[in-house]
Amino acid sequence: MIAPFEFTKSGLEIKKIVRELYDVNLDGYHELYLERRLAYYFQKHGIDKASMIRDIIINKPKIAQELQKELQITYTRLFREPAFFRQVVKLIKTIQQKKGSVRIWHTGCSNGSEAYSLAILLKESNLLGKCTIYATDINEKALSDAKKGVLSLKDVQNTLNDYHEAGGVQHLSEYFTYTRESSILKSSILNQIQFAKHELGHDHPFNEFDIIICRNMLIYYQNFHQQKLVDAMLNSLINGGYIGLSNCESLIGIAETKLKLVDSGQNIYQYFAHN
Ligand SMILES: C[S@@+](CC[C@H](N)C(=O)[O-])C[C@H]1O[C@@H](n2cnc3c(N)ncnc32)[C@H](O)[C@@H]1O
Repeated sequence: MIAPFEFTKSGLEIKKIVRELYDVNLDGYHELYLERRLAYYFQKHGIDKASMIRDIIINKPKIAQELQKELQITYTRLFREPAFFRQVVKLIKTIQQKKGSVRIWHTGCSNGSEAYSLAILLKESNLLGKCTIYATDINEKALSDAKKGVLSLKDVQNTLNDYHEAGGVQHLSEYFTYTRESSILKSSILNQIQFAKHELGHDHPFNEFDIIICRNMLIYYQNFHQQKLVDAMLNSLINGGYIGLSNCESLIGIAETKLKLVDSGQNIYQYFAHN
């Protein structure tokens, strides 16, 4: 059994090694979260000495990759929290009517499901051609999947209810072609999304976005780091732009003077630069 303080110690060590060897930044992750993931990982591999972890990460890249995956939760799915999509499409419509075009950024997009979902709904509202959509993540495997548009058959089949709840009015299956194991998003949707590797809070900010969608990412970070991530988003928004979170996240206590909660049901905030 490994003592809790050893987890923290090895957590710090792992952050350093993973950064040096694999260029992955885990600095801001909640220690409690890291401890939980490490405890699970150690148990799975029968590791009962925290000090072993350094050698393992350095000498067995395969295990290191696995650990990296373990720490970066990339779970996502199409039309996750469908009511959010319904609201965001409404918001995008309002912005489009006012400005003509809309710039949208999904940060922490994982395998692209979230951006695919929005693009499909925008297509159905005749808004897709008026929107520029960027989708970024730090996880290269997730991004490489995202760029291919490939999901499992179940990923699409199991999401029909959520698609309709999100406001979808067509047949979801029509946006995909199929092989025996996979559903492949049609290029008419996929090509409308620009995917890129980007680490929020570390890489240069983009700019002039009308909406930034950052869902199920902040929860893994400590407060001080959340602040850094939110500052990076604010630097990338136009005055009056929006940030959309998941329903388990909140920006209360972070940049409060500049952010107004405009949709408490769906956790959508509006940014006012001069407050
Ligand atoms: C749990 S997934 C959420 C995916 C999607 N937004 C959703 O809500 O279904 C979190 C994603 O954030 C990514 N991530 C974590 N920290 C990040 C950062 N600082 N910059 C960019 N992506 C990050 C992870 O690699 C992961 O793919």
